[in-house]
Parts: sequence; C-alpha cells; structure tokens
Amino acid sequence: MKIPTQASTQQMLRAHNADLADPDFWQLPRSERLKAFALLRGLDAPVLFEESGRRARRGGGGFYALVRHADVVEASRQPRQFASAPGVTTPEPAGWAKAVFGNSMVNLDGAEHANLRRIVSRAFTPRLLAAAEEDIRAVAGRVVDEMIAQRPGDFVPSVASRMPFEIICNLMGIPERYRPEIADRVDHASENVGVKRARLRVPGRGLRALAQMQLVMAKLARERRRRPTDDLISALVRADVDGQSLSARQLGAFFSLLLVAGVETTRNAIAHGLALLTAHPEQRELLVGDFERYADGAVDEIVRHSTPIIQFRRTVVADCAVGGRELRPGEKVVLFYASANRDEAVFADPDAFDITRDPNPHLGYGGGGPHYCLGAHLARQEMKALFHELLTRPRDLRAVGMPELVDSNFDNRVRALRFAFEPS
Ligand code: HEM
Repeated sequence: MKIPTQASTQQMLRAHNADLADPDFWQLPRSERLKAFALLRGLDAPVLFEESGRRARRGGGGFYALVRHADVVEASRQPRQFASAPGVTTPEPAGWAKAVFGNSMVNLDGAEHANLRRIVSRAFTPRLLAAAEEDIRAVAGRVVDEMIAQRPGDFVPSVASRMPFEIICNLMGIPERYRPEIADRVDHASENVGVKRARLRVPGRGLRALAQMQLVMAKLARERRRRPTDDLISALVRADVDGQSLSARQLGAFFSLLLVAGVETTRNAIAHGLALLTAHPEQRELLVGDFERYADGAVDEIVRHSTPIIQFRRTVVADCAVGGRELRPGEKVVLFYASANRDEAVFADPDAFDITRDPNPHLGYGGGGPHYCLGAHLARQEMKALFHELLTRPRDLRAVGMPELVDSNFDNRVRALRFAFEPS
C-alpha cells in the first residue's frame, strides 16, 4: 500500500469519525474510538492531526498520533529525541499554571528529571514495597469491612478510590486528621469536566483545590523538618538535589503528582476491573478458583484492557523517524497507550478479556524509558490485595450496569459504578 497524502488521509479519517484532534471524537462511545484506532494502526505511517483555534495556539499546531505498540515503545525509550518538556499533556497547560504550581517530574528531562526521580524512587524499591505488603493487605481488609458494613451504592467512592488513597497517605505519612480534607481536594483537583469545556486537565475549580492541597502539604513539610519520621514527606524535606534542598514549589508539585497520579489511575483500574470481571463470569470463575495462580495475570489484563491513562505527549527535539514518518524538532507526537494495548500485531484477539494472556507486554504503565510509571509495582500489589478481599469475602459481589465514564482524551475515568453483593 502506498502512503496516502496527508489531505486524502484527513478526509478519509473524518469520514470514519476518526479525527483525534476533534473534541467530538472523545465523546463517541469507547467501542467507536477503539475502531478508529484500529483503522489508524492499519495506515502506513503516523498521521498528523491538526488542532484549531485556541488549542492550536497553545499546543503548537497539532500532533502525530503514535498508535502502534512498536512506535509508542520507541518514542518512550528515546528521550534524546522525544522530550517530555515543555509538557506531556495535550493541549499544553497555560504558562501561569506552571508558574503557580511548579514543574512536576513528568514534564522534566535529563538530569533534572533523573535527580528528582532518584529521590522519590527510594520510597518505591521492591524491598520497601515488600515491607509495605502487610499494610496493603490490612488496608484492603478494612476497606472491604467498611463496604460490607454499609449498603452497596457507588463502588467508586466507597471502594475504588479509598484503597489507593489510604495507601498513598500511609506511604507519605499523612496523619489521619488531614485525610478527609485532602481526599476532598484530590477529588476536585482531578475533576474532569469533559473535553469540550476543559482546556486544562485541571480546570478552574481543580486548580483552586490543588492550591489548597499544597497548603496542607507545606504545613506537613514544616512539621517533618522539625520532627522527621521514616515517611516519604520526611525523606523529601531532607532530600538534596544538586546541593540544594527541594523548594516549597517542587515539594508541592511532587505531592500533588503522587496524589493525583497514584490515586486516580488505580481507582479507575479497580472500577474497570470489577466491571470486566462481572461481564466475563468465566474469567472470574477461573480467578476465584485459583487466586494465587491467576491474580498477577488478571491485574495486568485489567490494566491492558481498560488502559487507565489514554495518552501522554512528547516533543521532538532532534531529527528522527518513527513508524516510517520523518519528524523535525518542535513537532509533537502523542503516545496513545489505549491503541497500543489493542495492537493486533502484539496481542492475539486484542479486544478479548483474557486473564491467562502470557506474555502480556501491555503499555498501561508507559512504554518503558526514564518516565516509566514509578508506582506500577505498588498499583499491582494494591489491586491484587483488594480483589482478593472483594472476591472471597462478600458473596457474589458484582457491578450493576455499565461504568459511567467521563468524556476525556486523557484518562479512562469512571465517574460512578453501581454495585451489589450478598453479605455472607
Ligand atoms: C493502574 C495504575 C496506574 C497506571 C495505569 C499508571 C500509568 C502511568 C503512565 C502511563 C505513566 C507515564 C509513563 C511514561 O511517560 O512513560 C505514569 C507515570 C507515573 N506514575 Fe503511574 N500509573 C498507575 C499507578 C501509579 C501509582 C500507584 C503511583 C504512585 C504511587 C504512580 C506514580 C507515577 C509517577 C510519579 C509517574 C511519573 C514518572 C516520571 O515521570 O518519571 N502511578 N503512570
């Protein structure tokens, strides 16, 4: 097949409702969007999607969509060609947002990124996470105790959000008295009002919530400087980057990133997980029949199938080529994990939910390289512990109806999910 010209490709894509730069695309049912990605994967090279109006002025004139598994892996692992600065979200947040909130590590490159990541990754070593295993199981037990004590309603606030929130708070050492306030802030901070109105992933109300959350964090940081303990906040306030300690803004940016990145993603994976296990009773039976054998495969398959983070962006900084497309400095590429995870070149029957898939080289936590998800192991541990409790304690726990999704071009966010169980 010869490479179609950009103009004829655009026409064809519009005819198939596959214009990824059009906010209407992100309001289509998910199954339609996945069909569009399949169409794009079948083309010879990544296609340029041009943005219009304010989006174009902020985002700098569109992006090439990387939709194949191999292309997403390649861009993720070549940070000298594909930079995370000036930002990984599309369209770019306004400059004032960075000025107020500092630059989070997802948007940094090179030594600046590596230094910050080194400090925080101390809290995520397999050894420390193994030590946290008991705490994770205890939290899962408590969350399910409380779920059983209450009447079933919305699975998202009562179970799916609670588990990752408590774990991150324990890891960071946030005292109980601050938790209700922070939980409320996290919820608003990551509120997504839909792609049509949202210019930023964290619009007006969300930004206010983030600012308030950072005030709480600053207070805690001052306390830990005076009286350090063995938690992550103490480690960060003692940390030294290039001979300097982290600024208040760097600290705040990191706390917000961990709370939003660590809680939102996992919450969505857990909610999708319940919906998938309900829709596929034969897979659930397999899992319940031999939990230890199938649990690791199940949590990875949940993340592949649901892909909680749809995409992140990179900016080209050196002449290069990916997937047969030549790229110049300044051009943007968007890495669509949601499409790579359904790539038929890598996954047999990619739309099937199959907890026995082996290997399962999904890109739900990123395509590798320096920004690969810092919390991947923690997320796996949390999901395994929670699903163990959910599937073995109450009888017949199930989703009722489909998850209610938020229109978003960034995350596969579940707004609400009704559920039921027989307490036994
Ligand atoms: C199912 C749950 C999760 C999913 C699907 C997920 C997904 C991702 C993805 C796609 C990236 C970007 C990778 C890249 O650019 O190459 C990322 C980065 C990151 N994740 Fe996660 N994540 C999850 C859970 C967590 C948890 C529990 C934490 C923390 C406790 C966390 C912390 C981070 C951080 C700090 C980064 C930025 C790393 C960097 O820029 O160096 N994530 N995650």
